[in-house]
Amino acid sequence: MQSQEQITKSIIVSKELLRNHFDVTKAFEKAKSNINKEVDNILEIQNKELPVIPEIHYRSILNGDISEDEIINLKRRGAVIIRNVFDRNQANEWNDEIGEYIASNDYFTKSLAREGMDKYFSQLKSGAPQIFGIYWSRPQMLARQSESMANTKKFLNSLWDISSSNGNVFNPNKDFMYADRIRRREPGDETLGLSPHIDGGSFERWTDTAFQKVYQSVFNGNLDSYDPWKAEYRTETKEFKSPAVCSMFRTFQGWTALTAQGPSDGTLSLIPIANSMGYLLLRALQDDIAPDNLCDATPGRPLLISKSYHKDLLEGLVSIQDVNPGDTVWWHPDLTHSVADKHTGKDYSNVMFIGSSPQCQKNLDYAKRQTENFLLGKSPPDFAAEDYEVDFEGRFSSDQLTSLGRNQMAL
Ligand SMILES: [Fe+2]
Repeated sequence: MQSQEQITKSIIVSKELLRNHFDVTKAFEKAKSNINKEVDNILEIQNKELPVIPEIHYRSILNGDISEDEIINLKRRGAVIIRNVFDRNQANEWNDEIGEYIASNDYFTKSLAREGMDKYFSQLKSGAPQIFGIYWSRPQMLARQSESMANTKKFLNSLWDISSSNGNVFNPNKDFMYADRIRRREPGDETLGLSPHIDGGSFERWTDTAFQKVYQSVFNGNLDSYDPWKAEYRTETKEFKSPAVCSMFRTFQGWTALTAQGPSDGTLSLIPIANSMGYLLLRALQDDIAPDNLCDATPGRPLLISKSYHKDLLEGLVSIQDVNPGDTVWWHPDLTHSVADKHTGKDYSNVMFIGSSPQCQKNLDYAKRQTENFLLGKSPPDFAAEDYEVDFEGRFSSDQLTSLGRNQMAL
């Protein structure tokens, strides 16, 4: 683990190197102009009251009838709503079952006793979200090991260019489960939002050698050559170990809706511009940012996207459209996202976080550690060791795994 002193030194050295071999001011002007055009396009669609986030029906994935134009649009936006991955009744039942699992196992009393263990969200000004440290409920595991989820992920992974000089970066047809939490947000809640951020590394995006290779076109000033869908080096990045970082490489972050939710329900907003890293990375290299600062990127925290540095980009922040139970929402790991400060709707807005984490060495290493915890009912290694579920009744057990599920758990 690097000390703060080492981190500051690596920031200063990296910035100096990156700034000194191309015209960062000129490159940033171009990146900014690209972002302005994308934002204009997003606002134009929004003004016409058309859906900004691309939508695909799960049936179209099964039938293979997704057009080239839809793929182009999806890759431009870096986000997609895939409808009806699960039947609506199924999702409703799961939502009720999770509620019973939480209540009958007295989660609230146990969590109050252990409050304060998870500091991840403390910097996000809106406060802590209404997220539960529940990983191994039956509905979560059934969704993770389902065929429809596997088909959805195969489709999502296929959007990536997996070629590299050392062969394929990952297997797009197989996934390891990444056990994550659930959100159950009460109507009326005003305290549980998340400010705009990007997960999976903050200062590392400038200082880590693998990240520098991922973004090498940006750091060479060749913005037009940068492809956010090129997977090479993305499974080799070394993140600062913290609760802000997912130890698996995810082709998409995502969640499955357990209740109906839309713009007024305290749910997800996105900046649907897949190619926004040029702007973000170059912004921190401009003259107005101190040599030891990267637009306030902080080790072990999400990368915050703020009005003080990223105004042009923030103008593209839009809420997702209405989704129904069983729909899924997905976004590229470099996409800015936030959760609305206020839930002004009438019903709970509940989701299961399920991302897409294809099989590769990095993900296998974590899957094995995760499975050790699963067998004991402990929280997964990436999360605070709250271990609420160790003695929970009705926890999903290993004999309930299908052969697909066993493979996804590296068993
Ligand atoms: Fe996030």
